[in-house]
Amino acid sequence: MTSTSKEDKPLSVIGLGRIESTNSEARRRAEVGAAHGTLLWAEAQTKGRGRRGREWISPPGNIYASFILRPACDVAQALQLAFVAALGVGHFLANYLDEDARLHYKWPNDVLVNGHKIAGILAESTMGKTQTLEWVVLGVGINIKTYPEGVEWPATSLCAQGAKLPKIAELVEALGRSFFLYYNEWRDDGFYPIRKAWLQRAAGLDGPIRIRLDKEILEGTFTGLDEDGALVVLKEGDKEPSRITSGDVFPMDILESL
Ligand code: BTN
Repeated sequence: MTSTSKEDKPLSVIGLGRIESTNSEARRRAEVGAAHGTLLWAEAQTKGRGRRGREWISPPGNIYASFILRPACDVAQALQLAFVAALGVGHFLANYLDEDARLHYKWPNDVLVNGHKIAGILAESTMGKTQTLEWVVLGVGINIKTYPEGVEWPATSLCAQGAKLPKIAELVEALGRSFFLYYNEWRDDGFYPIRKAWLQRAAGLDGPIRIRLDKEILEGTFTGLDEDGALVVLKEGDKEPSRITSGDVFPMDILESL
């Protein structure tokens, strides 16, 4: 992979008021040439989007941010960037959490603190006419002041974890710096170190998981991540592990402990 500068970092951090969705806005700006490294954030979103077509409720007080990236890589490699973002979010959160807080990554891209979801990531990309990658937008939602109640996987926020925090604008700057630490590592050394770091804090590794696909629910043991970031699971009754590329994962040991 190549890049014009040695150390990539956010080139511009653009704060917006209440908008529909930072990912939708970032996609629009990427289409008209916004530079690699642009980081957009909003005070609130009226149509925040989550994975698998879900809504991301977005009141003021939390982080809603989207990175516009133009990596020199193919589409399969671009999928790895959501794991890069998860590690960046984890690094960012560690600055504000107690040392004994348990930080985990839940496949594919959720970040958990003490078992509760604190952040989610929505990766979107497009290819040009020549089938090359034009841009990647990585949307990051982090619960700072509030978190949703009555959701499928229990949630939390940095404030609920007792963190003392500066203003959101400062937090977004810190998030940008944390993200680019891992982006630079991925650009220089590829997915291997990212995958390794992610697995060190993978929620439910080597334990029982339930995976909800579009039309069925699978159960098995979560045994790892493959070199593209697919979930590797040994299904009940199988001798060989399977690769899962999309779905909702429920590590049962963690869920039952909440
Ligand atoms: C998920 O866990 O389902 C992913 C949630 C991603 C939410 C963020 S908030 C900023 C950006 N803009 C959006 O509309 N979605 C992402």
